[in-house]
Amino acid sequence: MTRVKVVAAYLAAGASIFSFSARAEGDLNLICSADVVICELLQETFQKETGISVNMVRLSSGETYAKVRAEARNPKTDIWWGGTGDPHLQAASEDLTVEYKSPMLSELHDWAVKQAESAGYKTIGVYAGALGWGYNTEILGKKNIKEPACWADLLAPELKGEIQMANPNSSGTAYTALASLVQIMGEDPAFDYLKKLNENISQYTKSGSAPVKAAGRGETALGIVFLHDAVAQTVEGFPVKSVAPCEGTGYEIGSMSIIKGARNMDNAKKWYDWALKPETQSLMREAKSFQLPSNKNAEVPKEAPRFEDIKLIDYDFVTYGDPEKRKSLLERWDREIGASAN
Ligand code: G6P
Repeated sequence: MTRVKVVAAYLAAGASIFSFSARAEGDLNLICSADVVICELLQETFQKETGISVNMVRLSSGETYAKVRAEARNPKTDIWWGGTGDPHLQAASEDLTVEYKSPMLSELHDWAVKQAESAGYKTIGVYAGALGWGYNTEILGKKNIKEPACWADLLAPELKGEIQMANPNSSGTAYTALASLVQIMGEDPAFDYLKKLNENISQYTKSGSAPVKAAGRGETALGIVFLHDAVAQTVEGFPVKSVAPCEGTGYEIGSMSIIKGARNMDNAKKWYDWALKPETQSLMREAKSFQLPSNKNAEVPKEAPRFEDIKLIDYDFVTYGDPEKRKSLLERWDREIGASAN
């Protein structure tokens, strides 16, 4: 070999060794169903700490469930982090996710472990948050509308066209609202209520937190959302006040699941253990994600709405995370509300 050829061969080998080591840790395909800011922060931090390259897409909880179900024979996703627990439970009961017992389990709050136990460890709680709404204080002030403190107040005629909530088919937030109202009022009265509420709704958004982002920017007066999403707008400096409804309200156990047939199973388990660590969950505050973390040793943001201060119902996750129940409530919502929605 001439000297030039030797050098060329050496460089080629070196280059391939280099590119091999950069990719040695492999990939992880993640669907993130929480706010995009926390999704991106987790993605970047995990990449930096592990060298695993994370392909992340943000999709709402109901949309993710539908995608995971549609791709069951040829899964393109390895792990699903965040989003409301009901569709995660649904996926677990349809065997679309994998049983896994993380070594971190002993550090978690009971509500997170109970969620895992009820699903044969095919999902687990990563955070919790209660449902309510956020309203724009300036808009309500200008229109002289009194603060809506109860679900019943949202039916006031002065709020016509002033409220947004998400569509419960795509959004876990809106499904939590639907299931909570059914548990608070009973199914028929809840649908009567939703029909009346429909008169005041200007738009059913795709993502759960969009309504309160719109309220913050003055595009609507009020958004039915998780309270921590309303608080995030206030912390951002928007004139938003959060309300926990007087009749009581439901809550989510934001969850995480490994997808059955994941191509990067080892990396999915690495993410899973990492996402349950206190240091990881303490990152949420930095992203203005004010849910309650599932690890007992994680920092609870001081802005996080506390469950002790809210009238919470004993939300029945097993019943409302059941595929048949969710399907029947969504079909009824489509028929009785969605079909006539603006
Ligand atoms: C927001 C909340 C999360 C929740 C998620 C559900 O991001 O901060 O706590 O899990 O919404 O999203 P979705 O679009 O499915 O309602």
